[in-house]
Amino acid sequence: MITLNEKETSIQLSEKEETQIIIQYWIRILKIKLGWIHEFDKLVVNYVMIFLLFVLYLFIVIINNHYLTQATTVFMLDTFRSSSKLLKTFSGHTDCVYSIDCFTLDCDQFICSGSDDKTVRVWDVENNKQIQSFNGHSSSVSCVKFSPYHCRNYRRNVICSASHDKTIRFWDIKDNQQWKICKEHTKGVCGIEFSQFNRGRYLCSASDDKTIRLWDIETYKSLHVFNGHEYAVWCIAFSSLQSYNNKNKNNSIGVIGGNGYTICSGSSDRTIRVWDIETTKQLIVFKGHRDAVVSVKYGSNELGINGGTNTILSGSQDNNVCLWDIRSKKQTQVFKGHRNGINIVEYSSFVMDNNDIGDSSNIICSGSSDNTIRFWDIRSNKELHVIKENNGIHCLTFLQLKKEKKGKCKDDRDCDISLCYCLSNGTIHTWG
Ligand SMILES: *[C@@H]1O[C@H](CO)[C@@H](O)[C@H](O)[C@H]1NC(C)=O
Ligand SMILES: *[C@@H]1O[C@H](CO)[C@@H](O)[C@H](O)[C@H]1NC(C)=O
Repeated sequence: MITLNEKETSIQLSEKEETQIIIQYWIRILKIKLGWIHEFDKLVVNYVMIFLLFVLYLFIVIINNHYLTQATTVFMLDTFRSSSKLLKTFSGHTDCVYSIDCFTLDCDQFICSGSDDKTVRVWDVENNKQIQSFNGHSSSVSCVKFSPYHCRNYRRNVICSASHDKTIRFWDIKDNQQWKICKEHTKGVCGIEFSQFNRGRYLCSASDDKTIRLWDIETYKSLHVFNGHEYAVWCIAFSSLQSYNNKNKNNSIGVIGGNGYTICSGSSDRTIRVWDIETTKQLIVFKGHRDAVVSVKYGSNELGINGGTNTILSGSQDNNVCLWDIRSKKQTQVFKGHRNGINIVEYSSFVMDNNDIGDSSNIICSGSSDNTIRFWDIRSNKELHVIKENNGIHCLTFLQLKKEKKGKCKDDRDCDISLCYCLSNGTIHTWG
């Protein structure tokens, strides 16, 4: 069966071939034309020639850039396994860090973090410095996210944080101020995520009050409350963009996403539930974990993951990592090896060996209170690599670091991947 991502690759290749054919065609035409212009002044011919070659060059550069930015960046796990080491340490938090997010502003990279010490902090990756600390929450901060919506629409750099103080707050990095506050949950907020559709305009939140809320962050209004979980909801995720699925359908993005976008949530009731955003109906209840589900992630076509948008990855306090298939509504895999509760699961863009380049990534990653980060191969169900620490791992994310020598921006080829993770003693590490 052809996965969606493979389709994308084959389309790219055939378009590339087409480009070559077009270029060859123009070179041939040029030669023929030159043969006909014997009477013209040679200089004019040269000028025309140079101009046309310049246009052709620009054309090739544009086409190349187009493909480069579209191509999925993959990284070799073997290289990472053999040569990666601790790169940087960010110290400042005085208690466990529950959440981190990475973002880029004007080519500079930043990490934001939320901690049990009630603060949200912002770090400059390049020079290892804390540049901001927001102290408004009155209880531990469970989740932090950089807001793509404020950045794109208002050119404001805003961090959104969720806390056990029942609130979701928005902070402007420049002003060092709390900007907005959403308080409708009746208990602590455990997880938040921005939508990938509609430029990140929607936010969903998971709460100890057993509900999930959907927010419009243009108006800061709560749009809907999803009821169904029997206990606290720990984690939440939006399904990714589905442009390839919907190629032949009407692209009628409704008021809230539309086109089959879903959210999934994990709870202390040991279930993972999938909800249709447009109809607000509960679509699936996945049962199989034997303890609270604390981390859920959708697969995505962008990362080049096998199965794409039809899989959900989960991690539970029952020490297991699982994969679930949305179409068959079944658990497809269990990864066993951690000796304590899982706190975070993540898809990676690593591949195993040279043969896999251009293929989908099949490697997932998990962080646990057993002080390890483990990498797993989806195909073989095997553990591939372990990073050992002296403290529990509570969150992790992948960060594409610029290579120091070149210091260029906007070009993925100049990037190294590194892993950014947090320890229960408040330290943040990058490893790559
Ligand atoms: C697409 O839109 C057209 C008109 O807007 C409608 O007639 C048609 O039924 C729609 N198709 C689908 C698959 O929704
Ligand atoms: C936290 O633990 C790491 C090792 O796991 C250690 O390097 C670091 O110094 C510790 N930080 C604090 C604040 O104790």
